[in-house]
Amino acid sequence: MLKIDVHTHILPKEIPNWKDKFGYGGFITLDHYRPCAAHMVRDDGKQFRDIDENCWEPVRRIEEMDATGIGVQVLSTVPVMFSYWTNPADGAEIAGFLNDHIADVVTEFPLRFAGLGTVPMQDTGLAVKELERCKNIGLAGVQIGTNVNQKNLGEPEFFDFFKACEELGMAVFVHPWEMMGEADMQKYWLPWLVGMPAEVSRAICSLIFSGTLERCPSLRICFAHGGGSFPATLGRIDHGFNVRPDLCAVDNPHSPRKYLNKMFFDSLVHEPAKLDFLIKLVGADQVMLGSDYPFPLGEAEPGKMIEVMGYDREIAAMLMHGAALNWLDLKESGFKMT
Ligand code: CO
Repeated sequence: MLKIDVHTHILPKEIPNWKDKFGYGGFITLDHYRPCAAHMVRDDGKQFRDIDENCWEPVRRIEEMDATGIGVQVLSTVPVMFSYWTNPADGAEIAGFLNDHIADVVTEFPLRFAGLGTVPMQDTGLAVKELERCKNIGLAGVQIGTNVNQKNLGEPEFFDFFKACEELGMAVFVHPWEMMGEADMQKYWLPWLVGMPAEVSRAICSLIFSGTLERCPSLRICFAHGGGSFPATLGRIDHGFNVRPDLCAVDNPHSPRKYLNKMFFDSLVHEPAKLDFLIKLVGADQVMLGSDYPFPLGEAEPGKMIEVMGYDREIAAMLMHGAALNWLDLKESGFKMT
């Protein structure tokens, strides 16, 4: 059975020295301190993360995909590269560089990879421009953060971007980053364990309550990490909407539950009961294998949890590739040797 992993990250092996080029700092660089391994370092010297060759080398990735039975990876950049904080023109240049790299990998291995671009969300006009270019260079959609410099995705300034995604038929993958409260909970990896699930719920609620999803009914949008804390707290969100419409229903009169059949989610929840709950809540046709490859907080053997759940073949096929093909608007035949 074809398995498509919709949540995987990739970087170019070499990243330009943006600090020298743009004249200010804060950018990620790669320090290849030994063969097959690199430190991701901020240009102020602060360590971000250690990565291995499988983060940039497509052939190495394909070897690991073959070992775990993954047919296709959907590639997206590492969220720390979004660079929404930069001058818009610089952010657009960085996005263009990263997107060209992903498009090159997809072009070289079209049976094994599909691609999502990144766009400079700090400037909606430039974001739409890069979105159009992403489509032209063969990417299936874009990945964006759960907030843009702490602005919520439902803000009116972002609406034209989501409308353009809908009109161009580009899939959207919403990934947590720059987690709320991060500075206040540095210890115990809490930004990743507490902040990330909250970030995803923040993005979903903002897009629902603002009316963005209502006004973009054909938008194909996916939320990472199984929707974060949203599915588990939907009862509270829905109840809040009902008892305080003066606070919740000011921009959209419809219940949050109306949008459950409008959203896709990846399967990365690390808990069989939670995966089953999500599938029962929204249906298998909206849940897709996603592993966060190649990072340690992901699913080490992508798709293993779906497999051990023992779903019947039709549901398993939907989770392994059917929903992903619908979300990306791609065909299974596109990933088969002719
Ligand atoms: Co990820």
